[in-house]
Amino acid sequence: MYYGGDYNPEQWPEEVWHEDVALMRRAGVTLVTVGVFSWSRLEPAPGHYDFGWLDRVLDLLHEGGVAVDLATPTASPPPWFPAEARNVTADGVRLTHGSRDTYCVSSPFYRDKSREITARLAERYGGHPALAMWHVHNEYGSWCHCDHTAAAFRAWLRDRHGSLDALNDAWTTSFWSQHYADWEHIQPPRATQYLPNPGQVLDFRRFLSDELLAHFREAKAILRPTGKPVTTNFVFGDWVPVDQRRWAEEVDLVAIDHYPAEDPPAETAFAADLARCWAGGKPWLLMEQATVTYTEPRIMAKEPGEIARLSLSHVARGSMGAMFFQWRASRGGAELWHGGMVPHAGPDSRIFREVCELGSVLRRLPAPSAPVAAEAAILWDTESWWATQAPKFPSSEVRYLDAVRQAHRVLYRHGVTADFAHPAGDLSRYRLVLVPCLYLLPDVSALRAYVEGGGTLVVSFFSGVADACGRVHLGGYPGALRELLGIRVEEFQPLAAPVTLSTGETASLWSERVHLEGAVALACYPDGTPAITRHGNAFYVSTRLTDEGLARLLGLAPHPAGLELVRRGDLLFAVNHGTEEHAVPAGIDVLTGDRVERLAPGAFAVLRYTPSPP
Ligand code: GAL
Repeated sequence: MYYGGDYNPEQWPEEVWHEDVALMRRAGVTLVTVGVFSWSRLEPAPGHYDFGWLDRVLDLLHEGGVAVDLATPTASPPPWFPAEARNVTADGVRLTHGSRDTYCVSSPFYRDKSREITARLAERYGGHPALAMWHVHNEYGSWCHCDHTAAAFRAWLRDRHGSLDALNDAWTTSFWSQHYADWEHIQPPRATQYLPNPGQVLDFRRFLSDELLAHFREAKAILRPTGKPVTTNFVFGDWVPVDQRRWAEEVDLVAIDHYPAEDPPAETAFAADLARCWAGGKPWLLMEQATVTYTEPRIMAKEPGEIARLSLSHVARGSMGAMFFQWRASRGGAELWHGGMVPHAGPDSRIFREVCELGSVLRRLPAPSAPVAAEAAILWDTESWWATQAPKFPSSEVRYLDAVRQAHRVLYRHGVTADFAHPAGDLSRYRLVLVPCLYLLPDVSALRAYVEGGGTLVVSFFSGVADACGRVHLGGYPGALRELLGIRVEEFQPLAAPVTLSTGETASLWSERVHLEGAVALACYPDGTPAITRHGNAFYVSTRLTDEGLARLLGLAPHPAGLELVRRGDLLFAVNHGTEEHAVPAGIDVLTGDRVERLAPGAFAVLRYTPSPP
């Protein structure tokens, strides 16, 4: 188990480093991420390096038995970087140094300097005994619209589309006089008068993902000869131009950062299950979380025990440990109120005591015998998410992520562990597959094979609508899925107010004029139009149900509120996030050796799993 966090010792005088290492030992810290934002201290002037302080930090950590996840500092270029290497917003503003992530990934200068600093670090620390892994960059995700970006975008487009004719076709440029006769006329989607071209916007996101990935690959190639694993920490959000599923094939270890806000247990399960999907079911690592809830409009202290509960939930779902941002809370700088494993109050604090307790829990945890077992899957496709973010869709209230989160939340609250899966992947091991708002669906063969193999497929509204370029499949929605679902949708009609279906369920947000073409209606709108249909074992839900309504449709049995039960190999993780005591499958808690039958509010246990699943 990895336990620790980002360690930014350059913020502190050296005496503090000694105290840090002593406290890390006390807390059971095994790994720290060092150097993420250290570029200006490592290369204070172009070509002038100062590694002395980092040598001392790594030696000290090694003496203290703490391993190092050494970062390349490329997410935060130093103040001496030239303007041409900083990013430009869509409306043409060149960003100024003063925060972080202020770089253009397509700038040759930025790329050269990135390779150079990475090579220096590889050369100097590749053989250091503290080095456990490499942490390339931080949360890849910066956007840029400058001329370097434009040139790289054009090269990427040539590669993707092959010819201008193909690009014109893919982007439907014959509309609004956008037909391109010269590659040089194509720009990134910069500020424009009215709606941008959705094909261009979608391709730009794809391009940014690939361009950032090219930067990662360059670093990986430089670090590879050191023989240590290479990773980067994925961030999740609607602004992030990174297709993590594809990137996951390039990293030695999938690592995510997670900062839940509204509903931390459900959001944690969601993020962890997604990370496991990106990792292809293999273990992954929670690289960052916070000891506080770091949200707007207030930064809240976590509830007593919450740090451990959420960390265990990540571990239950496949994480190889629990890491934080950051080890010691800053006394100044942009994130001084972020919280740390050692808070401003110092080690004599509830937070640090909880940090020590969590370290002890993770130390006592045996290695699970097998990966997490999931019986259901939810299809996940980053590109569908991106495509549905385009303006002027039939309803700005339909949000891909809301639909996916609802599907996951409903399964989670009913004690069903779900994987996320890709629409083209093998789904045969799942009993149930949910397809929320999968707007782009070029190919349905995997879904067809799944249904033909006896699996139950539940597709929601606004799925299967468009091809990979975002062009609508004609002849009726949900285009690609019509035959499989035995329906044809003639029109969409977003709902301004909820309606009651013939079954008594409440439907909101969206409705459709569904025609049956082989399917039967399970529920109808007030005017008698089918709303929920069934075609063999393929179901279609043309509206948004309530969480309870969706659970009823899926036939999910009630589950105790707040109780999380996840099986990972021979271990059953039981975490009670709720406010009431609950019974759990009786067993011996491997953390304490005690027999456990019930869990008090806020308590957790890790039970040796016995054959009858809960
Ligand atoms: C992450 C980032 C950290 C820190 C943290 C604050 O996104 O990687 O450096 O900024 O957020 O929550």
